Amino acid sequence: MKALAILGAREHGKVVCATVADGLAGRWETTCFLDDNGALEGSTLLGLPVYTPIERIEAFAGEGRIQGALVGVSCNHMPVRKALFSRLRSLGLETPSAVSPAAHVNSRAEVGAGSVLCPGAVVHAFARVGANCVLYSNSVVEHECILGDNVYLGPGVSFCAAVEVGRGSFIGTGASVVCRKVGEDVVVGAGAVVVDDIPDGAIVAGVPARILRIRTPEERRKSFILRNHTQPSPP
Ligand SMILES: CC(C)(COP(=O)(O)OP(=O)(O)OC[C@H]1O[C@@H](n2cnc3c(N)ncnc32)[C@H](O)[C@@H]1OP(=O)(O)O)[C@@H](O)C(=O)NCCC(=O)NCCS
Repeated sequence: MKALAILGAREHGKVVCATVADGLAGRWETTCFLDDNGALEGSTLLGLPVYTPIERIEAFAGEGRIQGALVGVSCNHMPVRKALFSRLRSLGLETPSAVSPAAHVNSRAEVGAGSVLCPGAVVHAFARVGANCVLYSNSVVEHECILGDNVYLGPGVSFCAAVEVGRGSFIGTGASVVCRKVGEDVVVGAGAVVVDDIPDGAIVAGVPARILRIRTPEERRKSFILRNHTQPSPP
């Protein structure tokens, strides 16, 4: 059994841990969490030690304490998710994808390294999901869809066939996407019905979805805070 660390010791980190336990049983075991919140040093989460800061991953990898790691930071910090995943790759750590046994990945579909698929997620035939993606419960990626790296789907998101989604985009709970192309670093609001293609950096919401605003490249490099978000600081 290989040892795995999860970066981020909050709610989403717990979900990643639970998905690893169900989907990678017998192959990978989560042995610790790492987080940048120094107040968590010495605490435990789900009975596992929490170490700070995340930078300690480098020593853990060097000492052979862990063979792999996954990003457990939520959608409120999309650029942080991307940076942490690159760091894991540069350290040469394995990043297994964690697929719940209650998710379905068609044998002709592809799921990239480090992606986490929750119960009810479906990746249908000839669809491709990039690396470090998250598909929350009951999200449906229909046939021929292509999701770039670091894409994050809230629960109940549905894509019709052959939609392309750019890197780093977040699709909110229950959104339906029936257009052809969603740009990079896009935010789609909960419950939206997306009928028109979305340009890079746009935040859209509503039925049919309309552009609320387009973020500047600088804003896109920062984390965004979602409505009713209760955890303002990054891990
Ligand atoms: C779209 C979203 C990102 C906008 O957040 P924001 O930039 O903070 O925007 P605001 O809350 O300031 O709202 C701006 C306007 O859009 C409206 N709006 C916000 N979210 C909306 C939504 N999902 N659908 C329709 N309208 C929405 C607001 O009512 C407001 O309208 P007003 O200007 O007429 O008052 C956010 O509301 C959202 O839907 N997040 C998704 C949350 C989610 O699915 N989380 C899952 C985690 S796994």
